[in-house]
Amino acid sequence: MYLRTQPAMHAHHHIPSFTTSTMGTKCKTILFEKVLFAIIIYFIFSTTNTTKALDTSCASQPDLTIIPIYGKCSPFKPTPGPWPDTIINMASKDPARLNYLASLVARKKPISSAPIASGQAFNIGGYVVRARLGTPGQLMFMVFDTSTDEAWVPCTGCTSCPSTSSPFSPTASATYGGSITCSATKCYQARGAQTCPRDPGATSACTFNQSYGGAMVSATLVQDSISLARETISNYAFGCVNSVSGGSIPAQGLLGLGRGPLSFISQSLSLYKGVFSYCLPSFRSYYFSGSLKLGRSGQPRRIQTTPLLRNPRRPSLYYVNLTGVSVGRVRVPVPREFLVFNQYTGSGTIIDSGTVITRFVQPVYNAIRDEFRRQVKGPFSSLGAFDTCFQKTYEKLAPIIKLHFEGMDLKLPYENSLIHSSSGSLACLAMAAAPNNVNSMLNVIANLQQQNLRILFDIVNNKVGIARELCN
Ligand SMILES: *[C@@H]1O[C@H](CO)[C@@H](O)[C@H](O)[C@H]1NC(C)=O
Ligand SMILES: *[C@@H]1O[C@H](CO)[C@@H](O)[C@H](O)[C@H]1NC(C)=O
Repeated sequence: MYLRTQPAMHAHHHIPSFTTSTMGTKCKTILFEKVLFAIIIYFIFSTTNTTKALDTSCASQPDLTIIPIYGKCSPFKPTPGPWPDTIINMASKDPARLNYLASLVARKKPISSAPIASGQAFNIGGYVVRARLGTPGQLMFMVFDTSTDEAWVPCTGCTSCPSTSSPFSPTASATYGGSITCSATKCYQARGAQTCPRDPGATSACTFNQSYGGAMVSATLVQDSISLARETISNYAFGCVNSVSGGSIPAQGLLGLGRGPLSFISQSLSLYKGVFSYCLPSFRSYYFSGSLKLGRSGQPRRIQTTPLLRNPRRPSLYYVNLTGVSVGRVRVPVPREFLVFNQYTGSGTIIDSGTVITRFVQPVYNAIRDEFRRQVKGPFSSLGAFDTCFQKTYEKLAPIIKLHFEGMDLKLPYENSLIHSSSGSLACLAMAAAPNNVNSMLNVIANLQQQNLRILFDIVNNKVGIARELCN
């Protein structure tokens, strides 16, 4: 299915940037200003031509929605400008994200080095969810990250935390459980945790330093209740951020949905049984939100699945077994060594919520691109991270791209494999090579390729399922 928006809508994205915690009213105001402009979405390859009008209230959305951070309903500054430019800009920061992913090696020693992506911030997350921390619940719009386990939020008194939003106040919470001691198992599990000092010893608080998005985050591991949906998880261990240096962090914190022991998924295991799914809305549906579902109920019954692979050295990451890629009818010849899972080198393929466009290691990408170029009429030009852009008039020649996983084939909708220039005259293959960097052995299935799909994770039964779902 091919989603196409009217070119006219792009002209209205020049909105004043705003920083606010009163998201509801401001967002509404902006929406009312823009309410004249309807988004008309043509489902070109479907039999139905659907017309969608704008959602007129961001505030009316149910709790467990996924809000694109650059979208109208985000409490954070929406990026002005046409969406293709936003994506090109965001995709330019992917290499730093890949460096981050490559750095997620489990280690016992605390990290002491400078941030890996020093000077070059990656996207500070694409999507936020609403969480309530403490009792009564303090509302935080947290970026969710499927490749990180820990959660952390700016706490009162934090040095250099984002000044635009209100931090979490432990003293205002009746259920605040204080800090976890450095001898506790949970402390040992936190990435970048400091070793327990001999003196005063086991009773000191657990602190950890993590690099994220070019910033170094310094936090104390504490406990309090959290709720995303109606249920409450008590004694949830998360980082209370004391200071940030070297860059900026998500304004209201990060929620780790990785598969390691400290992740939200693991800490809510008895309640949600290690099952969650999300559907990311189309990048073009600036106004809409996707959804996050926790637990088994409400998940699609019929869904094709592929095994999740476990890498003990990178316990947070959702590795899958990508066995090949087809471009049109051609199964692209790819040397196996570039797809094969190896826990020692970290090579293989992961599904990630924080990378913008899918990145293949160079030889794999080259093979896909060359086959794609053979089937579409050139000449080809580059645009940002994309090296295979062609006249939109040849778009109908564009072949379907299929990702083959063990036991599951994923046929990418056109919307998930092509992107248009903001002028609309060019279409580009919306994938790229991983940065030419020794650490980067990873193929990363990213956001743009996950639009309008429900991605279901089951960390108990080690499965990932993918089903088509329109969640704009
Ligand atoms: C963590 O960061 C804090 C503040 O920047 C610093 O004082 C501390 O030494 C760091 N700890 C480790 C283990 O790197
Ligand atoms: C990946 O799938 C292929 C094909 O089914 C299989 O031969 C291989 O053993 C799988 N790799 C892993 C690490 O499970």
